[in-house]
Amino acid sequence: MLTAITRGVSPAMASCELSFVERVPIDLSKALKQHRAYEQVLEKFGAKVIPLPAEPALPDSMFVEDPAMVLDELALIFPLGAESRRGEAASLAKVLSGFRALKYVQPPGTAEGGDILRVGRNLFVGLSKRTNEEGIRQLRSIVGEYRYTVTAVPVSGCLHLKSAVTFLGRNTLLANRKWFDASSMPGFEWVDVSPEEKHAANALAFGDTVILPASFPLTRAQVETRGFKVFPLDISELQKAESGLTCSSLLFDAKT
Ligand code: GLY
Repeated sequence: MLTAITRGVSPAMASCELSFVERVPIDLSKALKQHRAYEQVLEKFGAKVIPLPAEPALPDSMFVEDPAMVLDELALIFPLGAESRRGEAASLAKVLSGFRALKYVQPPGTAEGGDILRVGRNLFVGLSKRTNEEGIRQLRSIVGEYRYTVTAVPVSGCLHLKSAVTFLGRNTLLANRKWFDASSMPGFEWVDVSPEEKHAANALAFGDTVILPASFPLTRAQVETRGFKVFPLDISELQKAESGLTCSSLLFDAKT
């Protein structure tokens, strides 16, 4: 069954890490409502949501995509590139151990799930401020045993690779190609974000429907032109903490 692990918004979210968004005040009650609405959308698209309690001492901990990655055969736990976030991994590993065998990337390697874009058995991994070459080397060594390929993709101008590119299905990527080396990802069809909406590339696809932040109407039109349905979701308060749509859940099939 499609399963989504989420974690409540930390009351300390205002002190989150920021890399490519300016710090502005965050209305916590609005953020909580938007996060709940996000969980409801996951349920609407068929996921069983497992909500973990908020972590008051870990401002970025609702971004559960970053400390781990779940593949069909195993789950990987990462030493996050942001030191302030390293404490997020242990509780997530405990939950994931009920679903998958765990393997660990070890320091001095760093990796964050937001840098890993999976397309079938191909993992495109952002070489970014948060994921280093040693992290990618260890990741490649671990998943190579399970016949996944790993391609490093240099990222500049944003936080994670998936801040700049996500997979919509039908061999199509939604991207801001100014923020990463798109030549590392040949053979795809591209939908480019609108130039006025640089942050619009992080979308979450369920079948032919693409969940896209409501704040990106121009990019929405471009995605729709390519034959996808778009379900807009207001995450304006969460975006102040650099949220996209993939980072707030870990999605996987609980049976495999
Ligand atoms: N605020 C998300 C991150 O920087 O990790």
